[in-house]
Amino acid sequence: MGLKGDKITIRGGIPLIGRIELKGAKNLVTKAMVASLLGESPSILKNVPNISDVRIVRELLAVHGVKVTDGPEPGELLLDPVDVESAHFAAIDAHAGSSRIPILFCGPLLHRLGEAFIPDLGGCRIGDRPIDYHLEVLRKFGAVVDKQPNGIRMSAPNGLHGAKVSLPYPSVGATEQVLLTAVRAEGITELKGAAIEPEIMDLINILQKMGAIITVDTDRVIRIEGVERLEGFNHRALFDRNEAASWAAAALATDGDIFVGGARQSEMLTFLNVFRKVGGAFEIHDDGIRFYHPGGDLKPVVIETDVHPGFMTDWQQPLVIALTHAHGVSIVHETVYEQRFGFVDALVEMGATIQIHRECLGGHPCRFGQRNFNHSAVIAGPTKLHGADIEVPDLRGGFSHLIAALTAEGTSTVSNVGIISRGYENFITKLRLLGADFDLEG
Ligand code: EPU
Repeated sequence: MGLKGDKITIRGGIPLIGRIELKGAKNLVTKAMVASLLGESPSILKNVPNISDVRIVRELLAVHGVKVTDGPEPGELLLDPVDVESAHFAAIDAHAGSSRIPILFCGPLLHRLGEAFIPDLGGCRIGDRPIDYHLEVLRKFGAVVDKQPNGIRMSAPNGLHGAKVSLPYPSVGATEQVLLTAVRAEGITELKGAAIEPEIMDLINILQKMGAIITVDTDRVIRIEGVERLEGFNHRALFDRNEAASWAAAALATDGDIFVGGARQSEMLTFLNVFRKVGGAFEIHDDGIRFYHPGGDLKPVVIETDVHPGFMTDWQQPLVIALTHAHGVSIVHETVYEQRFGFVDALVEMGATIQIHRECLGGHPCRFGQRNFNHSAVIAGPTKLHGADIEVPDLRGGFSHLIAALTAEGTSTVSNVGIISRGYENFITKLRLLGADFDLEG
């Protein structure tokens, strides 16, 4: 899990002040590593964070015969797929439940080997997280999908062929599935209802460097002309805007001032608008963004999470802590995942006033409204948080718990913090750099 102990004791009330540096986006880097499987020659990926999700994908590539080595620059990976081979069941099964990335191995492995086996998937428990779109997409390309007790076996007896795909919801993963499968499928693929997150655009950059032909049209339509051969790529990964937003939220909630090196405005426009509306301030620099609390009261906001270019679901959890300090009632309507408020129970225990509702509050009706999911949060502030013993439920909720403990009066013990190292590189070192007062157990 990347940490010696799994528990951190935080003495709250100290503003986080200083500078931290971002690396590449978790949600791009792991997919870029999978894309290397499609090349006939080695790839170079730069700006790779040292997080456990990257380590899992590295191991999964290795069991499929990809040689993954560290390059000369810190955060540089060399990925050599020349000897790709089928993995032994036990080697793949060892990774069951550890990540959601294995489902994206399907297209590349079907192209390279004609078969693929995918173990049961993991990832944060923030909803049901089905893979029906993925399987439907793969079937459209000609894959034969055989669900087995321990995973899914796939084959492509007649090869993979371009397809017309229309996603019922602009899923990030399913869009990536289409891209990674279509680039080497025979013929033309048309994808309607695609997700267009910046991480997806960066994956398209990578695939184009490899030799793919991909057109991004208006209205979420992506066209891919399959090619017979792709080469390796050399790419510096896009920065992690989710990590940037998390540290920004930490700066605001702790009355702090954090320069997030590597953060860029264009991928964070929607976050920056909300940050300003809550009462936060920021300065855009060539090499990053300074986020700080400029003084004065924080203000309540109504947020509706959405696919890009909307307000990302991954941004709401860290920001909720600042909303507990805001003067008035804020609403967060979560429309991407049906169960992303598991983290608020601990905040209520710490003194926050938060109620979760099944109705679609504060915005448009969403697909969860009729389905009895607790997906709207009403946060009444300002409340003072006090220290408590809390347990991290998921990656972003975990970062939110850290912020809560950092702002709370007294001492908090946050357990299960290993989950946070799935997506935040060296967060313990960064907390130290920013002046947090804490001890690690172990
Ligand atoms: N969905 C389906 N069927 C599918 C696929 C998705 O119903 O086959 C639904 C999901 O259940 C969810 C919605 O579609 O309600 C959106 O899911 P999406 O496929 O877009 O999410 P994902 O690809 O599984 C990625 C990130 C998430 C991020 C979301 C949204 C990775 C590894 N994960 O997940 O990141 O929240 O896109 O931007 O890229 C995180 O970093 O903490 C995280 C959860």
